[in-house]
Amino acid sequence: MQLYSPRMAQYITMVDEELHRAMPATTGRQQTTAKAMAYAVEDGGKRLRPVLLLEWARLCGADVQTALPFAAAVEMIHASSLVHDDLPCMDNSLIRRGKPSTFAAYGEDMGLLAGDALILLAFEWMLTAGAQGVSAQTAVEAAAALAQAAGIEGMVGGQTIDLESEGRMIDLETLQDLQNGKTAAMIAAACKMGAIVADADLQTRNAAHRFGTELGLCFQIVDDLLDVTSTSEALGKPVGADEENQKATYVTLLGLESAEALAKERTEAALRSLGLFGEDADDLRQLTTALLTRTH
Ligand code: IPE
Ligand code: IPE
Ligand code: MG
Ligand code: MG
Ligand code: MG
Repeated sequence: MQLYSPRMAQYITMVDEELHRAMPATTGRQQTTAKAMAYAVEDGGKRLRPVLLLEWARLCGADVQTALPFAAAVEMIHASSLVHDDLPCMDNSLIRRGKPSTFAAYGEDMGLLAGDALILLAFEWMLTAGAQGVSAQTAVEAAAALAQAAGIEGMVGGQTIDLESEGRMIDLETLQDLQNGKTAAMIAAACKMGAIVADADLQTRNAAHRFGTELGLCFQIVDDLLDVTSTSEALGKPVGADEENQKATYVTLLGLESAEALAKERTEAALRSLGLFGEDADDLRQLTTALLTRTH
């Protein structure tokens, strides 16, 4: 099943161009890190988070162009999280998006710096390029939502639980906190930021966040499933990595079948949370359903 509608495929082209515009020059004395930054955000990823941001912005009535710097910023933070996630001190993974991971190509030191610089560039880009198209208040709200989702209460917090759970049995509640933090928080923030950029009311922002949380929890369960059931050619990253790192996942805690059932439940919950929207949200419904059976 096709993940993206033609409109969403168009978003990806726009996001790729915006990321290209945002990347630093690769000619100065700092060029090694600058090249590693560009390498980490180059195409190869699904661009799910920026697509969600732009689609929520459109659904809530914003001009998609206005939302574009924020979409690029979300992808920069996501890419930084992947660069750091692959480091030897974390998941120690040599392949990402079908090529050597950033630290494998540029060294651990440059990988660390490139991830740091991408995080900072994301905020610079929202507060400069982003703030040209929306009010300063809106840009600040969107930036705050992203900071919160990426930080200690979100992705960084989830990664903390993930690393400290290696080799241990954890309960389902801890696992849900782990996955909510490391993955769902950023996906939920992407949806909510689309609503924020569109100046949507609180109820709509909350609906976007709820949808993104359900979708994000499903997304990580499927990531855990694919680590067991897929191939590294299809995924563009190693398979069996979770077992090797003795990670706590839904597959290790519940087994394949129950994990699949839970992913389906989450998908249904995500679809239910779109109840407010009519036909205009059909592309989003199609994407939500297709993500359940994605192959990479
Ligand atoms: C991988 O995210 C990390 C997780 C949160 C599971 P994606 O599967 O979205 O990675 P890319 O961006 O497509 O490479
Ligand atoms: C990482 O989760 C989530 C991030 C915040 C990057 P995983 O460690 O499962 O992601 P993959 O499988 O390496 O993409
Ligand atoms: Mg990890
Ligand atoms: Mg990993
Ligand atoms: Mg994984």
